[in-house]
Amino acid sequence: MIIKMKMVTKVYRTGAVEFEALKHVNLGVERGQMVAVVGPSGSGKSTLMNIMGCLDVPTSGMYQLDGENVNRLSSNQLADIRNKKIGFVFQAFNLLPYATAYENVEVPLLFARVNAKQRKERVIQMLEQVGLGNKLANKPTEMSGGEMQRVAIARALANDPEIILADEPTGNLDTKSGEGIVNIFHDLHTMGKTVLIITHDMSLARRAQRIVKLRDGLIETDEEATKVA
Ligand SMILES: Nc1ncnc2c1ncn2[C@@H]1O[C@H](COP(=O)(O)OP(=O)(O)OP(=O)(O)O)[C@@H](O)[C@H]1O
Ligand SMILES: [Mg+2]
Repeated sequence: MIIKMKMVTKVYRTGAVEFEALKHVNLGVERGQMVAVVGPSGSGKSTLMNIMGCLDVPTSGMYQLDGENVNRLSSNQLADIRNKKIGFVFQAFNLLPYATAYENVEVPLLFARVNAKQRKERVIQMLEQVGLGNKLANKPTEMSGGEMQRVAIARALANDPEIILADEPTGNLDTKSGEGIVNIFHDLHTMGKTVLIITHDMSLARRAQRIVKLRDGLIETDEEATKVA
């Protein structure tokens, strides 16, 4: 199992107020699975994804990523794991606004100290893979929402992560662009990547193998997508 959570709890403290956003969550994801995470606003989806992606740590419970116990790692080690193993895609794209598509995808490769020749090859390969081989020099303001999200996906894939974590990746897109993005995630799953997508859209969620439904910080249902009504 590439993702393994046992009794994971997350408590947020705001001043004197404590809020339990995740309550003893048990969740395992096999390598290569495509999982949709659904649930009402505030049910803990992003909290769960932040922990999975090592952007945050559980208050209690155990999290193992690819066999490694994440609880014990320092923040430097967590950053290292994030860079190597995880590609993130967010609802708001989070691209550098003044940089071109090419430059945006190059960023993680610069962090990973990939040499110039390999960087160039990889950036072009990734942008071609998402159908943007003709938009290398476009800045975010010169692209559609769907194109910006595809740049963000190319960036997430640049270091060839095992796991793709996407938090509402189609939330800012029209239905057709959203479909295109989900098709890309589907292809990645077919190529053997582990893909987790948070979405409000049940028609998109149904394209995953498995649908995990959260409610009030608990897993309410966890079923094969074909069986979810
Ligand atoms: N940093 C924080 N400090 C305090 N409370 C937080 C923090 N982040 C999230 N919460 C609370 O934890 C709960 C779960 O939040 P989370 O962002 O995981 O929900 P979500 O399911 O992703 O919702 P949405 O669909 O609206 O994105 C919410 O009640 C939220 O108010
Ligand atoms: Mg959220």
